[in-house]
Parts: sequence; structure tokens; C-alpha cells
Amino acid sequence: MNEKLKVLETKQAEAVLGGGQKRIDAQHSKKKLFARERIEYLLDEGSFEEIGMFVTHRTKDFGMDKEVYLGDGVVTGYGTINGRLVYVFAQDFTVFGGSLSETHAEKICKVMDMALKVGAPMIGLNDSGGARIQEGVRSLGGYADIFYRNVQASGVIPQISAIMGPCAGGAVYSPAMTDFTMMVENTSYMFVTGPNVVKTVTNETVTAEELGGASTHSTKSGVAHTTSANDVECLEDVKKLLSYLPQNNTELPHDLPYIPTDEIRMALDSIIPDSATKPYDMKDVINNLIDEDSFFEIHKNFAENIVVGFARLGGRNVGIVANNPMFLAGCLDVNSSTKAARFTRFCDAFNIPLLVLVDVPGFLPGTDQEWNGIIVHGAKLLYALSEATVPKVTVITRKAYGGAYDVMNSKHIGADMNYAWPTAEIAVMGAKGASEIIFKKEISEAEDPAAKLAEKEAEYARKFATPYRAAQRGFIDEVILPNETRKKLLKTFAMLENKEVERPKRKHGNIPL
Ligand code: HXC
Repeated sequence: MNEKLKVLETKQAEAVLGGGQKRIDAQHSKKKLFARERIEYLLDEGSFEEIGMFVTHRTKDFGMDKEVYLGDGVVTGYGTINGRLVYVFAQDFTVFGGSLSETHAEKICKVMDMALKVGAPMIGLNDSGGARIQEGVRSLGGYADIFYRNVQASGVIPQISAIMGPCAGGAVYSPAMTDFTMMVENTSYMFVTGPNVVKTVTNETVTAEELGGASTHSTKSGVAHTTSANDVECLEDVKKLLSYLPQNNTELPHDLPYIPTDEIRMALDSIIPDSATKPYDMKDVINNLIDEDSFFEIHKNFAENIVVGFARLGGRNVGIVANNPMFLAGCLDVNSSTKAARFTRFCDAFNIPLLVLVDVPGFLPGTDQEWNGIIVHGAKLLYALSEATVPKVTVITRKAYGGAYDVMNSKHIGADMNYAWPTAEIAVMGAKGASEIIFKKEISEAEDPAAKLAEKEAEYARKFATPYRAAQRGFIDEVILPNETRKKLLKTFAMLENKEVERPKRKHGNIPL
């Protein structure tokens, strides 16, 4: 490549991804930072402009008039991250435990209002003991003012919450209504009621970490989208996440410059095992398809039977939703459906094209799933993918069975291009289950029922466990080789770049919540 072009590309890439500036020394980097240090680290050097530095609370009760601090426990303002405007607040735990007073809330609302008016991301660095107890209902009102704004901004500007200390009581609902909740391991926790209340009400003994630490929320509840080892890593993750997002819902994400080279990826040919029942890691497929090291995974340790995250394909930002046969055979269940539905809706709201990789034997059966509402939760993903109007591309790598075939971005629910690898099996169900049902009589009357079943299974697999029946009907646009998939996807997403879809006028749909 031309050297000048190379330099230019690197500069452009740095403008999007950042040059990795480090202004916190190594020793400091593992510690909890102060609010101002966090902002300092997050934003481009010298770019922060503070708003409301002289604001103080107005409370006289409980001797509060004698304890007045400038800023009232939250630092607010705007600045840039890799040249892009963002609005930010950072709660200061050293002032009344970062608790939220009426004026503290007013400061946050002011920057939220500006972020929405201007159309720039809003980033909240949370570290707070919750509602300022001395202020009673005024602080509760302050929270509600923030919640209301979270909702008005939803789907208009990206909203990111980093949880870098306590986040208790109703305070958790603002992060929950933002697009991403990113927690710091061992120093942050989120719960509606803390361990003491839990003990009083249910007699359950639990630590804060067990109840609402980063590990709990990233594996059990799914409240946390990412976790990081310390403050610095969390702030780095915020920056990285932002690099995949547009400023607002009227803009496209910032792509990286890319010059096509050899896009054939031979490694993809040997990922699918010979046996249809053997698992493989869908992340191997993802990593071989996308630009090197470009995968930013969301909900990494939660509902691992589906993988979601941002990546780049030829410099273009895409959102990936992919079944992972490594976990629960890649089945759709309550948690994976909800996880993928939420991610899909985020991508759709912010003009990020979707790539859906399919290897799904169906919905996870059982009382646990049925009693926990797999019908309604599975419907969320079906709804989200049907509703999405961004470019939507599907690649079926192996199984696409039953209702899950429909759900996983089938042609029928509006996918733009549907590809299948020759190893794809698209059918109502797997060969064994299907044969046992439709050849039941023949098998039971056979001299050797096991042999008959095997024969029928093979017959069924030959006929239906292929992509060609679906391709004959046009439900699959093309059967492609694994090694040419990246090349195909680069062309397909470029072709779909100007896609526009008009939807009927309505107030809003009614996603099955
Ligand atoms: C006023 C508070 C405060 C609060 C902490 N502080 N939380 N002041 N209102 N909510 C003050 C403390 O008095 C103390 O002041 C200082 O902050 C540091 O607190 P410590 O307790 O010393 O710190 P630590 O031991 O680290 O414990 C942190 C904590 C604990 C776990 C957050 O302070 C705590 O449990 N706070 C209360 C949490 C809570 O229940 N909040 C209300 C939730 S209900 P001094 O002067 O001694 O340094 C809620 C409703 C929202 O938020 C509703 C929205 C719909």
C-alpha cells in the first residue's frame, strides 16, 4: 500500500478508535479513581468543559446548611472522546456518598437535556449511595426527572452507564434504562434493596457482592452488559464501545477506512465438525469473518448460547447476533432471546446493520422454560428482528430447525439476504425426532426397528437436512462456501448501504414484554 495512504488511514483509524492516550500512571490505574480523574481519563486531554461547578444544595434540615460543597456531589459537563462530542456526569462519592439531591439531579438533567438537543451520546459515571436521605421526596423527584429524560433520549442518543461504586435503591433504574450498563469488578454493585433489607425481609444472608456485584449481574441477571477489572479498563471499554456507535439516531456509525485485499478465509472451511451433534464455538466463525480483533462482545458471560456484539466488516460497523452450539447446543431460551432482542433493537435504533449467524436446533424444551415464559420471551426476538429496518443478513452455518428457523432472521421476517453453507440443515426438526414421528408405524412393525429408524433417519436427512430445499423456494438466496463468506458479506453490506424501509404510521408497536 502507498505509504502516504497508510499514514492517512492510521490517522483516520485513530480518530475513530483513539490513539490510546494514557494520562493516569500505571500505579494509579488499578485503583478506584475520583470523579474528576474518571472524567479526565475518559475524555480527550483538555477537552472537558464543566457546567454547574458552583451549584450547591438548598437543604436546611438536619444541619445540612452547615455542610455545603460546591458542585453538590456530581461533576457535569461535556468534552470529546477521540474528537467526538459527548456529555458526561460523574458522581463524587466524597460528597455525601455521591447521594442524589434535588440540585445534584438538576445538574444531571441539564446535561441530559443538552445531549438530547444537540444529538450527542450521554455517559453517566455512577458512584452513589442513592437518594440523599436528608432531602426526602425532593431527591426522589430528582431521580424521576432523570428517569423521564432517560426515556425521552432512548433510541435518539446512545446512553451509557458505567457503574463505578454503589448504585442502590431506585438509583438502579436510570442505568437500567440506558443502552449499556458497564460495571467495575469488586468495587461496584447494584441492587434495589441492599443486604440489610434482604436480611430483615426474607432472613436471607447475602453479601453486597453476591447480591449485586459485577459478577452476579454479568452472569446471572444480565443487568451488566460488560465488566472490567478496574476503573481505567472500564473507561477504556466505554471509549471502545462508543467507537461502534453513531452520535445519534439520524447518523450512521463511523466506519473505518478499508481497502479490500484477499477476503477468502480458508480457516472457515474446517470449523463445522463432521458430526451434526458435535459442538463448535461460533466465536471461531465470527473471528474469522470479521476484521482482525474487531469484536466487542456484549453480555459475554450471560446466556452464552447466543453471542451478540459489535464488529467491523471491511471497516463497516455491524451488530452480530449468533447462536453458539458450545452452550445448550445453541438453543434459544428465555435469557438468550431477551439478550438478542435487546441488542437487535439497539442496532436498529442506531442504524447499525445486523449480521445473524444461525446454528439453532430449536427452543429449549422443559417446564423451567415454559413456566418462565419462553413463549413471550422468544417472541421478543421474533418481534425485534421482524421490526428492524436496518440491513439484515443471515448466514446459516448448520442447523435451522423449527420455529427458531423463522425467528433467526429468516427471509420471511424481512431479512435482506439469506445465505447458507452447504452444511446447513433447514427443517421442521432434526432427522431422528422427525423419523420417529412420521415413520412411527413403519418402524414399530419392522423386524429390526433400530435399523429401520436409522434407514429412515438417513432418508429424511438426505431430503430435508440440506439448504437446497429452502434455496429452491428462494428462502435462501445462495448456498455459499464458508471460505467465501467474508467476501460475500462485504459485498452484501455495501449493496444494502442505502436501504430504506417505510413502516405504517403508528404510535409504537407493542413488543411482548
Ligand atoms: C445521604 C449518604 C447517603 C445517602 C451515604 N451517605 N449514602 N448521605 N444520603 N443516601 C453518606 C454517609 O452518611 C457518609 O457521610 C458518606 O456518605 C459515606 O458513606 P459511608 O456509609 O460511610 O460509606 P460506605 O461504608 O462506603 O457505604 C456506602 C453505602 C452506604 C453502602 C452506599 O452509605 C449506604 O448504605 N448508604 C445508603 C444507601 C441507601 O439505602 N440509599 C437510599 C436508597 S433508596 P459521612 O459524612 O459520614 O462521610 C433510593 C431511592 C431512590 O435511592 C428512589 C428512586 C425512585
